[in-house]
Amino acid sequence: MSASENIRIGICGLGTVGGGTLELLQSNRDEITARLGKEVVVTHVATRTPKPDLTAEIPATGTDLLALANDPQVDIVVETIGGCELAFDLVAAALKNGKHVVTANKALIAERGNELFAIADEQGVTLAFESSVAAGIPIIKALREGLAANEIDWLAGIINGTGNFIMTEMAEKQRQFADVLKEAQALGYAEADPTFDVEGIDAAHKLTIMASIAFGIPLQFSKTYTEGISHITPEDISYADELGYCIKHLGIAQRSDKGVEMRVHPTLLGKSRLLASVNGVGNAVLVSGNKVGSTMYYGPGAGAEATASAVVADIIDIARQQAAGASQPVYPGLGYRNTRNDLSVLAIEDITAEYYLRIPAVDKVGVMAKISSVLQAQSISIEAVIQKEPTSESVPIVILTHSVVEKNLDQAIAALEALDEVTGKITRIRVEPFHGEAA
Ligand code: HSE
Repeated sequence: MSASENIRIGICGLGTVGGGTLELLQSNRDEITARLGKEVVVTHVATRTPKPDLTAEIPATGTDLLALANDPQVDIVVETIGGCELAFDLVAAALKNGKHVVTANKALIAERGNELFAIADEQGVTLAFESSVAAGIPIIKALREGLAANEIDWLAGIINGTGNFIMTEMAEKQRQFADVLKEAQALGYAEADPTFDVEGIDAAHKLTIMASIAFGIPLQFSKTYTEGISHITPEDISYADELGYCIKHLGIAQRSDKGVEMRVHPTLLGKSRLLASVNGVGNAVLVSGNKVGSTMYYGPGAGAEATASAVVADIIDIARQQAAGASQPVYPGLGYRNTRNDLSVLAIEDITAEYYLRIPAVDKVGVMAKISSVLQAQSISIEAVIQKEPTSESVPIVILTHSVVEKNLDQAIAALEALDEVTGKITRIRVEPFHGEAA
């Protein structure tokens, strides 16, 4: 791609993101050309879902992804097919052919990014992935460039639009989980397999990517603790509310003397927190740097146009870099020249947190005393208790604990569930870890 020529793009996949990207390039053509001083031209599309009205003026359209990765008329390959296998082959082939790649595929980056960045490095080309995390929010740029002067202490975010949409509708309109999920699918928010959204896998992919950039560690998706929202009940939402909290599905990454934590799970969040007011498909990421303090980034976390906005921003970045005559990518890989392998990732059993426990118990005198003594045996102290009127044989006892190491809590839960007075499984939800912090 020479400095004066147009930028030639090949798009693989015309689903929500690929279709949105093509549509954005067409509808905002004048603005983009004015910003770049040259045109971004789509020369090739490979898709199994043809959209003839969008592709009428494109010289090459077909179904063969590898043909696109080999096409000399393509400078930048845009990968929006999703998944890890075919997408890996396509991206690897394009990089090996000396093409830059823009991908929205968080699973691919989180699970196989270490391999792909190594190929990109060897070839001196860019693998850009802004749209893979939090769709329209430029959080990759913020972490990698805007906060580059800081040591990042921790970050916490609502990073799955579908999940947040479901939790918001359940809390505000008392809607049923399955019904809201269907709407999220119709709106183009959900993954092809929506289990990725509701079981936290999608958020874990995104957290893995952000933690790598924030702490300079390799991508380690398999070490990210992942818990979904499907076990959260309307009762939990209402008890949390009584205690002054809302429940949000958060991705949390933090660094301590013990190591790095990477965890995705439902979280009790104080209602006055900025993150607590992020509703619907909105995403937000709170990042704490050792010099700047807490900063927050908010915007739409899913949907065709929001994601396409970030895909096209990456295309513009690469084109500008080329125009400046850079022979190597300005931001290689995850933005660290030397990846830190010395920071270990903590297992979830080793984290320290406060917890919400909902314990189904028989309605008898002395039950609370028994529960307290089990907790005391593990040195777990109680911050607050709610005990409701019995609705049937069983009465829910809701407890907020002070800080405890998770493995001690595991033992306490096992001991509680073994009591005759406890009638079922105990629900545990972790409480936000950033007490006392701004925002
Ligand atoms: N399914 C994802 C979400 C799409 O709901 O956040 C954006 O990554």
